[in-house]
Amino acid sequence: MNKFDTLPGFREFPPDACAQRNHLFRVFRTVARAFDFQEYDVPVVEPLDLYLQKSGEEIASQLFHFEDKGGRKVALRPELTPTLARMIAARANSLPKPVKWFNIGEHFRYERPQKGRGRSFYQFNADLIGEPGVDADAELIALLASIFETFGLRSDDVVIRLSDRVTWVLFLDQLNICEDARPATLDAIDKSERRKPEQTIESLNQANPDRGEEIFAKIQELKGLKNLDQIVQKLETCGDQGKQRADDWKSLTNRLEAHGCGSMIQVDLSIVRGLAYYTGFVYEAFEASGEGRALAGGGRYDHLIKKLSGNCDLPAAGFAIGDMTLSDCLASKNLLPRYVIAPDLFLIFGETERDMGLRLSSHLRKAGHSTTYSLKPSGFGKQFKDAGKSGARYAIILGEDEVKQSSVKVKDLRSGSEETCKIQSLVEKIEDWDGEGGISAQE
Ligand code: HAM
Repeated sequence: MNKFDTLPGFREFPPDACAQRNHLFRVFRTVARAFDFQEYDVPVVEPLDLYLQKSGEEIASQLFHFEDKGGRKVALRPELTPTLARMIAARANSLPKPVKWFNIGEHFRYERPQKGRGRSFYQFNADLIGEPGVDADAELIALLASIFETFGLRSDDVVIRLSDRVTWVLFLDQLNICEDARPATLDAIDKSERRKPEQTIESLNQANPDRGEEIFAKIQELKGLKNLDQIVQKLETCGDQGKQRADDWKSLTNRLEAHGCGSMIQVDLSIVRGLAYYTGFVYEAFEASGEGRALAGGGRYDHLIKKLSGNCDLPAAGFAIGDMTLSDCLASKNLLPRYVIAPDLFLIFGETERDMGLRLSSHLRKAGHSTTYSLKPSGFGKQFKDAGKSGARYAIILGEDEVKQSSVKVKDLRSGSEETCKIQSLVEKIEDWDGEGGISAQE
């Protein structure tokens, strides 16, 4: 590796990659606005403690962190949720509830770079704060599904695997797993999808001495509950709290049907979510084929804001979509548009008309038309060649004769047709032609 190469896991975005990224961001923004979410932004560098205490062990071990010149321990943000929680707590009294906010930004995790995983990546985060009921969870999941649909992904392309931490806690209570052992047990369940059974049993044994194998077998059974009826039936054996939660499951899935995204949802208790702060319904989106890493993940985190602020108790839920896995998924299904990065107009002029040409280009640019010309003095032939290469739709030709008559020649580089028009009316004409599909379409 050359010492000046990009660092492992970091990407450069030349214009075509940048255009592709902007396409993702445009869809995120458009759909979030359709759901009445408002955009916000936050710092990229934060106090290290914000993540050490709030994000959970896995993210804490992946932090990019350092001491700044003022001796503060700081970290590049690996995720947005703790920052959002702090921001909301500080403004809790003045913000009308529910708060529906979204952000698009870069995040950093020191992970092993691989397909779909980098050390710097973008996330679209959407969060809904101040509403404890399943309607908020449904609104968020509907937003996630709607984003997928807007990209052209359907239920045979992606699935949103829906699970619930409350359900797991009720099941663990039934297995007599004490509260202290709960976080480590949930963590072992979360990781069990990616690990060998022996490793999971070992983690379960550490959290629940001598019970690893027994708990592992029970967990496998519970993870096998793959539809709502089975989960409801099992919950109904967990007392009043279980019955209440069964009702919540039914309400949530009814709402999702009503939102029109039921077909993308798959009930799946193998999802637990690695982050420490989740408290209720949780979900992750994957390609339906099962290939690749998660496209998105989220859930309810009702206690995080209180934990960060000490006094402000607000229920919250949200999710994030990552740009890397999403781009891979869209590319594999041919759903990334071909981006044309070309000027609208290419000005061609003789050297004596250069000043006039520059004035004209400034006028056209102010009118919102992307306009370019050959920076180096060159003959008309070379300039026509450059115009063709640039991908511009129209060449605007300004020669001696045209200047005398305060006019220009406009050549449609797609159809080859040409027209002379007064400089005064050029902007209007271009707008007409664009609307009509070119000069020739008017003839
Ligand atoms: P997360 O599951 O850690 O959740 O990340 C969400 C998504 O970000 C993942 O599904 C993945 O697409 C992407 N992602 C995560 N790490 C990487 C990586 N190293 N490289 C590429 N993409 C990655 C959260 O971050 C939660 N804070 C989401 C949330 C918002 N929960 C509530 N509100």
